Amino acid sequence: MNPNSKLGPALQALIRRADEALAQALPAEHLPPESLHRAMRYAVLGGGKRLRPLLVYAAGAALGEHGVVLDAPACAVELIHAYSLVHDDLPAMDDDAMRRGRPTCHIVFGEAMAILAGDALQALAFELLAHDIHATNGIEMLRVLGRACGAEGMAGGQALDLAAVGRKLELHELEHMHACKTGALIRASVRLGALAAGADEDTLDALDRYAHAVGLAFQVRDDILDVEGESAVIGKTAGKDAAADKPTFPSIIGLDASRHRLDELIHAALAAIKPFGERAVLLDELARYAAARHH
Ligand code: IPE
Ligand code: IPE
Ligand code: MG
Ligand code: MG
Ligand code: MG
Repeated sequence: MNPNSKLGPALQALIRRADEALAQALPAEHLPPESLHRAMRYAVLGGGKRLRPLLVYAAGAALGEHGVVLDAPACAVELIHAYSLVHDDLPAMDDDAMRRGRPTCHIVFGEAMAILAGDALQALAFELLAHDIHATNGIEMLRVLGRACGAEGMAGGQALDLAAVGRKLELHELEHMHACKTGALIRASVRLGALAAGADEDTLDALDRYAHAVGLAFQVRDDILDVEGESAVIGKTAGKDAAADKPTFPSIIGLDASRHRLDELIHAALAAIKPFGERAVLLDELARYAAARHH
């Protein structure tokens, strides 16, 4: 089954656009160091929902921007995401053997190469964004991406996640951890699309309310799927969070309350983009998809 089959034709077309841009941006496998390049391409291509690039394109579209200025930020956020997954799966972190329905990067290429592939993917993301440095908001876009993946964003959230193993977090602590480890890059995706489209401060604020809610909702759904999903469908090892004693939404507030929180968050996301009307149709579709996805 095509994992993205639930998305409409406009978003499907944008997935193909992101896939092509990524394949183009990644170093060729036949160039040395071949094993590093192969590991990078393996980690990025051939799977994944591409939610973050889609959010870049959808935020741009909400502001009337559809052009090539969106391609570099769309690739950059997916490269950061792919790097974060490679490192997240390492034995020192979640120690996972399956990702996107295939063996994880370190299983195929070894731990050292997986670490380096992650490092190089992160660097490539910034290199790509820097191509557009003279564009309106070019420097601001670099700052936004740096902040989203650093100690106050994804990496910080991952550190909180590891420190929380076996501890019973308060709900607000859990939400903060999720907002960092997953929410920060999702927020950055929306902000980068909007910045590339030349958004003003009020517009950025409204879109940020949307992105904050979607980012949290996305990880709540991920936690629910870890409990309810089957490995063959979600493409990664189900039941991993409980086995590793991770604090998650279901483990702290239960499945029903987690589903309720998810509904609340999607409601908040949709309310935030109401003023954009029809122009926000893709953002609307993505928020619903983030909450309802089965993989
Ligand atoms: C998985 O992200 C890790 C989280 C941050 C929850 P995705 O569910 O977006 O993974 P892919 O890109 O579709 O594989
Ligand atoms: C991953 O969260 C977050 C990042 C990779 C930044 P999880 O550890 O829950 O993601 P999965 O379930 O392995 O995809
Ligand atoms: Mg993890
Ligand atoms: Mg994990
Ligand atoms: Mg998970």
